[in-house]
Amino acid sequence: KTIYLSEYKVPAHLVDTVDLRFELFEDGARVHSTLSVRRNPESAEVSAPLTLDGDSLKLEHVALNGEELAASDYEETEDQLVIAKVPAQFELTVVTWIEPQNNTRLEGLYKSSGMFCTQCEAESFRCITYFPDRPDVMARYRTRIEADKSSCPVLLSNGNDVEKGDLENGRHFVTWEDPFPKPSYLFALVAGDLVEKKDTFTTCSGRGIDLRIFVEPRNAAKCEHAMDSLKRSMRWDEETYGREYDLDIFMIVAVDDFNMGAMENKGLNIFNSSCVLASQETATDLAFQQIEAIVAHEYFHNWSGNRVTCRDWFQLSLKEGFTVFRDATFSADVGSPTVKRIEDVTLLRTAQFAEDAGPMAHPVRPASYMEITNFYTLTIYEKGAEVVRMIHTLLGPDLFRKGSDLYFERHDGQAVTTDDFVKAMEDASGRNLTQFRLWYEQAGTPMLTVSDDYDAKQGIYRLTIQQSVPDTPGQTGKQPQHIPFALGLLGASGEALPLRLESAQGAANAPEESVLELTEASHTFEFHGLAQKPVPSLLRHFSAPVRVVYPWSREQLVFLMSHDPDGFNRWDAGQRLAVDVIQSLVSSPDVSEIEPRLVEACRALLGDSALDQALVAKMLQLPSEAYLIELADSPDVAAIHRAREQVLSHLATSLRDELVACYHRNAGVGTYEITPESIARRSLRNTALAWLLMINDDAGRELALQQLSDADNMTDRMGALRALVNSDYADERSTALADFYERFQDDPQVVEQWFSVQSSSDRAGQLPQIQALLQHPAFDWKNPNKIRSVVGVFAGQNLSAFHNPDGSGYSFLADQVCRLDDSNPQIAARLVTPLTRWQKFAPAYSSLMRSALERIRDKPGLSADLYEVVHKSLEA
Ligand code: ARG
Ligand code: ZN
Repeated sequence: KTIYLSEYKVPAHLVDTVDLRFELFEDGARVHSTLSVRRNPESAEVSAPLTLDGDSLKLEHVALNGEELAASDYEETEDQLVIAKVPAQFELTVVTWIEPQNNTRLEGLYKSSGMFCTQCEAESFRCITYFPDRPDVMARYRTRIEADKSSCPVLLSNGNDVEKGDLENGRHFVTWEDPFPKPSYLFALVAGDLVEKKDTFTTCSGRGIDLRIFVEPRNAAKCEHAMDSLKRSMRWDEETYGREYDLDIFMIVAVDDFNMGAMENKGLNIFNSSCVLASQETATDLAFQQIEAIVAHEYFHNWSGNRVTCRDWFQLSLKEGFTVFRDATFSADVGSPTVKRIEDVTLLRTAQFAEDAGPMAHPVRPASYMEITNFYTLTIYEKGAEVVRMIHTLLGPDLFRKGSDLYFERHDGQAVTTDDFVKAMEDASGRNLTQFRLWYEQAGTPMLTVSDDYDAKQGIYRLTIQQSVPDTPGQTGKQPQHIPFALGLLGASGEALPLRLESAQGAANAPEESVLELTEASHTFEFHGLAQKPVPSLLRHFSAPVRVVYPWSREQLVFLMSHDPDGFNRWDAGQRLAVDVIQSLVSSPDVSEIEPRLVEACRALLGDSALDQALVAKMLQLPSEAYLIELADSPDVAAIHRAREQVLSHLATSLRDELVACYHRNAGVGTYEITPESIARRSLRNTALAWLLMINDDAGRELALQQLSDADNMTDRMGALRALVNSDYADERSTALADFYERFQDDPQVVEQWFSVQSSSDRAGQLPQIQALLQHPAFDWKNPNKIRSVVGVFAGQNLSAFHNPDGSGYSFLADQVCRLDDSNPQIAARLVTPLTRWQKFAPAYSSLMRSALERIRDKPGLSADLYEVVHKSLEA
């Protein structure tokens, strides 16, 4: 069933308060819910029945104003409870029985390693009790939890705890009260045997907040980084957005089985263990950075999501796009801004662009959906964040802040739309964003085709930019969008040239960087007073989520790589050069033709100690196979894989001595620190190591083995392990893998990394080896992280093995997706993504991918989640 934004209606009934009582037992849970309900004065449906959502509930009792209802007074369907006759205002009591211990979908109330926990976003509160489960119904919640005191000493819910006590039979209870009205998707409950890490935070207005991180006892020592990240986030949101925390306590809980990364439940954030737990010995630098970003993201939701929430799920990007933008700015402020931008753009261009060009392409504000869980996408999150970033660029920081202040003030306590957000930005800034709104409505990645010419006689440089927005399923004939295009021009020795759009304008006030605003299908800009033809630096900082086509010469790219004052564009020039070199090799496989300037550029980088080393480390990463595939029409995966490996080997062979020197220069000194500088050193060292092992260099092998035995942190240990796993040293590889497992087998997060390093490797992750990993005792079909680290990583990162021309990778994925669909449809619908892109590939691949998809389509009892993605992909 398809749901349309155009059919949105305000709820017929509102709920003011929710009183919940949970009786938790080993064999199930009884949920008593009392709602105070009234007719919505804004609804035209004055005599509408009360309609409540429900899913997999056993209804035990319904009472209206204290009177038990007879079965003839209500209708219970597959997914609703309908009470035809209700007064204008009343109290409704519903008692349901649920079985958290058998809940493998991990939606609603479920058990994870003996702990009760919840995930209600988007529509899973209805798996707990009957309720108008939509975000525009906001209520104040009071929650009493009763459970066995010895197995569940800790009982948590949203808000502040107001009462606790002992009950008969070794049971006890705690009552929580949340003073802020909230939608049901922000409800949370946790009950289990947990230890807490405590801290406090004093807000800008001097209020003391208790901070708590609850974990299983074995993880007690892995909370420090998340706690520090939380305190930094709280301070940053006060300083940057003027947002102060509002309850007396803020809690985080780590849960091993979790469908997503984390969840911003009011005052009680629940995290996937892998997104919160870290120690020097067990987490890589990347994990530390991700944890900091996710802790910040969930915390920031307290304002962008909770205090101001979404009217309906079409508005999901209202909270997600804005919050991702907020967390990205935070990460840039506390780390390396250029590197953060590079990482975000890499994800966007590799995965979001692919989504926008595929069968599930949808606007940042979709117009329809079948299953909302399928719309927690890179488009909603990442492109949504880019859209907010563009508003920030167009308005500038001060007006943007005025806009966000107005937004929070105007809509506090409301459920609103992306349009309300844009309106606040318009009202605060006086800018007209009418055309800009198309970013929310039109799917597809705009393409900018740039051409230029130089008139030496008049000293004029002309830049023409044409835009087009591609057709996407169900959307054709699109209009031009409003695009901020940041630009600089460089002179022959790398100097920044003044940008004079009018000949009259004096050189003194001409800027060195401008944001051109594109609004029409074609624009020509004239830059005056230029004595020489400049090299353009286009779309600096990636100022808009678009593709840029410009006939760069390799010479220009090499020039920009070493001269562009915008670090992002320096990196991007290097990527474009590498892409060009690899693509040439795909079409004419002659290794002797590999561009010498790429080798020299890398040589220069390896010896450049003046440049930000974090940027150097990024610049030495070749574009991924996934990105190369995204850029290609009808990609031949095997040919791309081969060409990329050849370029890598050629670079490593030509730069062998420089790599060894770089390794030693960056070898571990002093104590381990999580600072951009030391992260960059480790990254450079491990890149050098990876390249050396790529060419099976014996000195590299020694360095890797040495590093493996000396490592005092997971980044170096994993760097060495990964390098060995991806080399041809088969004996060293298996010994290293076995030792690593032996050492860390009791730590699920490390075991997940151990799975991933194998499933992503074309050496250690061919299909028979992947199948063996599924049989490994540490593999667990009920744990999404394990599934992702084997099946997801194989299909998403080990592309030459997944796209084996015999189709075995596809049919393997289809098998696993079908198997999972019965236990956890949300995960099944995500895992299938690589197959849904079948139309992109060369015919030999695409027909096999299509048949694998058809087999999934024909599976008996296909879930609604999988139905939507599989059908949209086959019918696109
Ligand atoms: N709101 C969460 C976040 O972005 C994601 C939860 C998504 N849950 C889901 N079932 N799709 O932080
Ligand atoms: Zn979020």
